[in-house]
Amino acid sequence: MKTLVIGTGGREHALALALSRDPSVTEVHAAPGNPGIADVATLHPVDQLNPVEVADLAERLGVDLVVVGPEAPLVAGVADAVRERGISCFGPSAEAAQLEGSKAFAKDVMAAAEVPTALAYVCSTQAEIEEALDAFGAPYVVKDDGLAAGKGVVVTDDRAEALAHALQCDRVVIEEFLDGPEVSLFAITDGSTVFPLQPAQDFKRIFNDDEGPNTGGMGAYTPLPWAPEGLVEEVLERVLQPTVDELARRGTIFSGLLYAGLALTKRGVKVIEFNARFGDPETQPLMALLDSPLGVLLKAAADGELHVTEPPRWKSGSALAVVMASAGYPESSRNGDVILGTDAAQRPAECDVIHAGTALVDGNLVTAGGRVLAVTAVGKDLDDARAKAYAGVGAIEFDGAQFRTDIAAKAAAGEIKV
Ligand code: AMP
Ligand code: GLY
Repeated sequence: MKTLVIGTGGREHALALALSRDPSVTEVHAAPGNPGIADVATLHPVDQLNPVEVADLAERLGVDLVVVGPEAPLVAGVADAVRERGISCFGPSAEAAQLEGSKAFAKDVMAAAEVPTALAYVCSTQAEIEEALDAFGAPYVVKDDGLAAGKGVVVTDDRAEALAHALQCDRVVIEEFLDGPEVSLFAITDGSTVFPLQPAQDFKRIFNDDEGPNTGGMGAYTPLPWAPEGLVEEVLERVLQPTVDELARRGTIFSGLLYAGLALTKRGVKVIEFNARFGDPETQPLMALLDSPLGVLLKAAADGELHVTEPPRWKSGSALAVVMASAGYPESSRNGDVILGTDAAQRPAECDVIHAGTALVDGNLVTAGGRVLAVTAVGKDLDDARAKAYAGVGAIEFDGAQFRTDIAAKAAAGEIKV
């Protein structure tokens, strides 16, 4: 099977790497890709937000499966355009991708499907905003009603800061604060059968101990040794399947990756948000532990054949990704800092360097974005995976590098309680 991955980030590198390790995959192409993806795929230039350009490329390459990584191309209708050419595509239609593209749409679907989530108000005037803020009280949760790559959300005890953020948004969702540990649970679905993956956890804040502003994600690990027994089954039954079924009932088949961001609150599991694509960086450790051929799974989802496909299998042990970000992130990012130490020879075995914001300039690998790369490691347990990943991080250098030193530390120490 010939495959084409759309996107430029760490998630796309992890997916391309996993596809390249699937014996049924004969070719991996990527567009536009990045210097890390170039090690496992043939790169092609493309405007990933242009559905016609992407569909033309898929047709010209004669691929059997297109995998769309990021949300923006999905919302732009790239998956629809590819499918219209008769090519299998993993990723929801533009209409179904509204589950991520519009927080208000997601809330409506959840209400109809009786999926547990935070109470929320959609506001458009200052008076409505202030009323909602005061109805819930601190901590305030203010979300831009649109795509913001994980950075459109402000959670704060400071009412003035919450109000200022809300006033910057066209349409804003203000919601109840959910306490308790967060879980990222992904599912591969063809619009009817739903295969949950292992739960993972992501670290959103830039600094250790969850301090500082939200980012796209500074690290992740899987599985979660502290997850309550039966969590995956419960989320499948109460969240994932009802959501997929409700969308089908509306005639908006959701096929692709359904990502549930969950809070395990005192009052049970609640959805924080849905995304319509693999999470980044959670995909990096998940792909490192996946024991099933990825191409077979994604093609079956794209073709509506999951009911006759074997569910995902997992290797034992733990996997972890530590993100290294550039100077200034998340407010800005600095390009052009030379990156040293990414050669395989300089890091432990069972460690991969997954590229996100990198570029090759005059033969040097340099920073080219906020999140620059992630070091992913597999170990017999979390301590072992952490030791390997941080040894890999220690070998990599660039000016202004930022990374957290506490990814999965609490979980490894048994300090997370539900
Ligand atoms: P989102 O983009 O909706 O995933 O939000 C980004 C991050 O903000 C989440 O991962 C949470 O850490 C936090 N967050 C969002 N909504 C809530 C909420 N209702 N209660 C508490 N934290 C939240
Ligand atoms: N890891 C968070 C996200 O992909 O949105």
